[in-house]
Amino acid sequence: MIYSSITGTGGYLPERIMENAELEQMVNTSDEWIKSRTGVVKRHIAAEGETTCDLAEHAAHKAMKAASASSDDIDLIIVATTTPDLIFPSTACLLQHRLGIRGTAAFDVQAVCTGFIYALAIADKFIKTGSTKKALVVGAETLSRIIDWTDRDTCVLFGDGAGAVILEASETPGIVSTFLHADGQYKDLLKVPSGISTDCTKIKDGNAFIQMQGNEVFKVAVNTLGRIVDETLSANNLKKKDIDWLVPHQANTRIISATAKKLDMPMDKVILTVDQHGNTSAASVPLALDVAIRDGRIQRGDKLLLEAFGGGFTWGSALIDY
Ligand code: UT7
Repeated sequence: MIYSSITGTGGYLPERIMENAELEQMVNTSDEWIKSRTGVVKRHIAAEGETTCDLAEHAAHKAMKAASASSDDIDLIIVATTTPDLIFPSTACLLQHRLGIRGTAAFDVQAVCTGFIYALAIADKFIKTGSTKKALVVGAETLSRIIDWTDRDTCVLFGDGAGAVILEASETPGIVSTFLHADGQYKDLLKVPSGISTDCTKIKDGNAFIQMQGNEVFKVAVNTLGRIVDETLSANNLKKKDIDWLVPHQANTRIISATAKKLDMPMDKVILTVDQHGNTSAASVPLALDVAIRDGRIQRGDKLLLEAFGGGFTWGSALIDY
């Protein structure tokens, strides 16, 4: 049996930091409201001209260095993003070229905040079938480009960034299980209501923005994440206490605490970066993973539960023996 195992991680955040105080000058909000309702203290914002692929490239280089992987070794590239540089070619193809790689499969995955879990699950399946030996899996976003900076309901929540992992074929797990789900009946609760074949003038004019019915999304997110925790534990015959670290999508500290409670897990076993990064959508899980591996909290042999929930709705989990 072939398994896949994470051999290196990397993360990158744009230089510019936006504190809550700056948002107080832009919309009718307060540092106190943002911190207490979301947990966000600051977020990073891409510079003018800095693209999703730029962020992805930095994160990819760091992950490759950590895994001692060279460009020649990579035989699959998947980029999870909702904010690609171009309509096409895919950001994965742009990244492939930047890294000096030719001929490998390279494609984007669009599952909004669950994008990295989807990409990781796909790469895991490529490796398990024997068609891939070493995959570069990236979650990268420049969400600041689709934020209405006059809408206090959304502009306080999001940030830009990228996280990457190298996933390699291995004789032992690795990735123990992945579960992916979606339910399009919730399409209107969280969306950018324009695209190439709908209202494309908004895209051309730079007026395509995230809209969210936050309260409704919150309720479904808490229930759904609770269910995916149960699904993952029961499919693997595990008890709550078997999980060493929860690495959740970083949308809101209150949603994360509810999931931790479901696992009877103290918050010091939960990787929390939403305070420093905001919600970076597909980048949030790999960024959180990278932070906790680099600061030494996550150690080889630990059992990790990665989970995410986002627009679509989409949701998923990855159970990993690190
Ligand atoms: O990553 C993908 C998935 N996304 C999520 O999971 C996000 C889920 N939703 C959330 O995290 C929360 O719903 C929010 C953080 C977006 C909002 O928190 P909430 O506790 O659900 O607030 P609310 O929408 O119920 O609004 C409470 C009050 C309202 O005022 P009234 O009607 O009570 O007078 C809002 O108008 O807070 C007001 N409000 C704000 N006040 C200051 C909403 N946004 C702001 C703001 N600053 N930025």
